[in-house]
Amino acid sequence: MFDSRANASALLHSVFGFNAFRPGQEEIVDAVLAGENVLAVMPTGSGKSLCYQLPAIARPGLTLVVSPLIALMRDQVRALTAAGVVAGSLNSSNEPAENSRVMGLLRRRELRLLYVAPERLARPDTVEMLAESDVSMMAIDEAHCVSQWGHDFRPEYLSLGNVARQIGGRLQTLAFTATADAPTRNDIVDKLFAAPPRVFVRSFDRPNLRLAFKPKERSSRQVLAFVRSHEAESGIIYCASRRKVEELAEALKAAGVNALPYHAGLDKAVRDSNQDAFQQQDGVVMTATVAFGMGIDKPDVRFVCHADLPANVEAYYQEIGRAGRDGLAADTLTLYSLGDMQLRRLQIEQGEQPDERKRIERQRLGALLALAEAPRCRRQTLLAYFGEASQPCGNCDLCQEGVELFDGTIDAQKAMYLRRRRRPQGRRMALDFPPALSHRPDRPGPDGAWPLVGDRPGLAGPEGQGDDRAA
Ligand SMILES: Nc1ncnc2c1ncn2[C@@H]1O[C@H](COP(=O)(O)OP(=O)(O)OP(=O)(O)O)[C@@H](O)[C@H]1O
Ligand SMILES: [Mg+2]
Ligand SMILES: [Zn+2]
Repeated sequence: MFDSRANASALLHSVFGFNAFRPGQEEIVDAVLAGENVLAVMPTGSGKSLCYQLPAIARPGLTLVVSPLIALMRDQVRALTAAGVVAGSLNSSNEPAENSRVMGLLRRRELRLLYVAPERLARPDTVEMLAESDVSMMAIDEAHCVSQWGHDFRPEYLSLGNVARQIGGRLQTLAFTATADAPTRNDIVDKLFAAPPRVFVRSFDRPNLRLAFKPKERSSRQVLAFVRSHEAESGIIYCASRRKVEELAEALKAAGVNALPYHAGLDKAVRDSNQDAFQQQDGVVMTATVAFGMGIDKPDVRFVCHADLPANVEAYYQEIGRAGRDGLAADTLTLYSLGDMQLRRLQIEQGEQPDERKRIERQRLGALLALAEAPRCRRQTLLAYFGEASQPCGNCDLCQEGVELFDGTIDAQKAMYLRRRRRPQGRRMALDFPPALSHRPDRPGPDGAWPLVGDRPGLAGPEGQGDDRAA
């Protein structure tokens, strides 16, 4: 054990070029080197990859890494190869030459890490091939994808538990995620492990991220002002639609910002070149849909702005998590309107998921609305959602600027009056309410769902004010 620990710190310097472990890494690396099965829940950007990469290099045998995204595999294989580690990936976008290179390394038992997409691993020929290799460990990244209660369920992850058995022998299993509440964690354990693993859960807090929410007024101007306060810094602006991504990129460019668009509807060549520019240059502002992000590991992203309300609280946490991965201060701002809330709610109701799933989605959205509107420290509200108690943080808009309180009785009465008058003609309201007016309960209702904005008595129905969502 002592030897492998000394070896681990030597590798930390020589292969990864780091001076010290980050909080939580060393104990996980120790447990992995001692042969334990592990589930590790650690915040975004905390260095989970190293917790399986380092042991994979320190011990004999091949480590299989299951990852949901090709871009993420590509980046990690590139970085490992540059550091002199023999690594490869098997996925649908590989050239045939790359596949035969990887197969050759695998047959000669020279490969230390093999990244595989879960679909690929579900194929019998892949399992057969691995059963004949020297695979001794399987690391499952973004493990919350296995849970139907997680926010990013991928059915292909469900077969991973079987794969371990089919490969035969004793396959040490590791699972990593940044976002798993207690039900999701239990689900991960049930679905991926034959026996309960050693579980490591670190605080979800990212103290270097400043948190702020603002009701939308004119969102493009608000975004521009935010970007201007971060001149020459790299950042990401998330939008809810492709059209808005393009419009905002144009508007920012016209204002002299080095902005580039990214969404799934752009040509692959454009997407790749924009992503490379963002990764490699300083001061690029990426306006993007959520298609951009998972696995993006640029250490010095200094800000993340949501120009529209994110889908739910987990998505919000993952998306802001792309800022400040170097541990230095980074800024986040989320703009929201009643129109956004209504749209997100509609997306849930019109989705094809079973009712139970919808109920959970409503709860997740409700938790995000609570975060937008609760009159107490944002971080306290966010961490409470993940089951963590904390003190006011001093690094969010509400801690720093306080809550603006005012007497809203007259406005509320006007709103009620207008609503009664206008509803029959099908007209929409155009009133916006500051956070202080919302009497946000601090716990869900009896059905487990958080009441939504439109559910609150005395408040206006949906509106589209300030919402420049394009499509
Ligand atoms: N011990 C360390 N010292 C310094 N930097 C580190 C250390 N470990 C990891 N890093 C760096 O931290 C960054 C984040 O690491 P990584 O991508 O593994 O995060 P993650 O926990 O997987 O986050 P996410 O949940 O968002 O995927 C990387 O740039 C990585 O090089
Ligand atoms: Mg990761
Ligand atoms: Zn705070």
